[in-house]
Amino acid sequence: MFWSHHCRYRVTLAVLGWGLGALTAAHGESPSEPLSIGRPASAADIARWDIDIGPDGTGLPDGGGTALDGAPIFAALCADCHGPDGRRGRDRLAGPRDDQQRPNVGNRWPYTTTLFDYIRRAMPPATPGSLSDTEVYALTAHILNLNALIPADRELNAETLPMIVMPARARFVPDNRRGGPEVR
Ligand code: HEC
Repeated sequence: MFWSHHCRYRVTLAVLGWGLGALTAAHGESPSEPLSIGRPASAADIARWDIDIGPDGTGLPDGGGTALDGAPIFAALCADCHGPDGRRGRDRLAGPRDDQQRPNVGNRWPYTTTLFDYIRRAMPPATPGSLSDTEVYALTAHILNLNALIPADRELNAETLPMIVMPARARFVPDNRRGGPEVR
């Protein structure tokens, strides 16, 4: 019993020793020597990850689309989960403006640009990132049209999308409190 415990202890120490040795060797060579882990991110890698869009539309890509373009895409790729008119499930894409008990995109989201950003990065859940920018503009337009916020033939693009003021914008205030932890 004692022997096996002792032995395990020695093995642990040996592994630790090897690890420290490897680290020391790596440092010993040169502090700037690469560790042969991974590869530098290329401009294409960074462009693929750098897709966030600001509330003012900064970062919106080229392309554009209307709700008329978006309706068939929605029927094919989104309606199974969200319902044909976007009113199914817990996370509703459309619904009555004054129903605060049941939030939806039309009565809760403060910026249209967030809608574009969210659809592009997260939907459909099985294949996020698979939609073209033009399809995302069209789907965004369709959801805004389901909420009676724009007409079906209004083209949304990098210029027109940020100009739509969502009804919920006034329900949010900047968090400028001071005196506590200020990481938000
Ligand atoms: C397999 C089912 C499924 C499909 C298909 C799907 N969604 Fe979703 N969607 C979800 C779920 C589940 C959520 C909630 C995710 C969460 O809260 O983390 C969601 C959330 C959303 C939201 C945010 C709603 C909110 O108020 O939080 C939007 C917008 C959206 N989906 C748009 C789309 C669009 C556009 C498509 C088609 C391209 C699509 N979804 C396809 C399941 C789906």
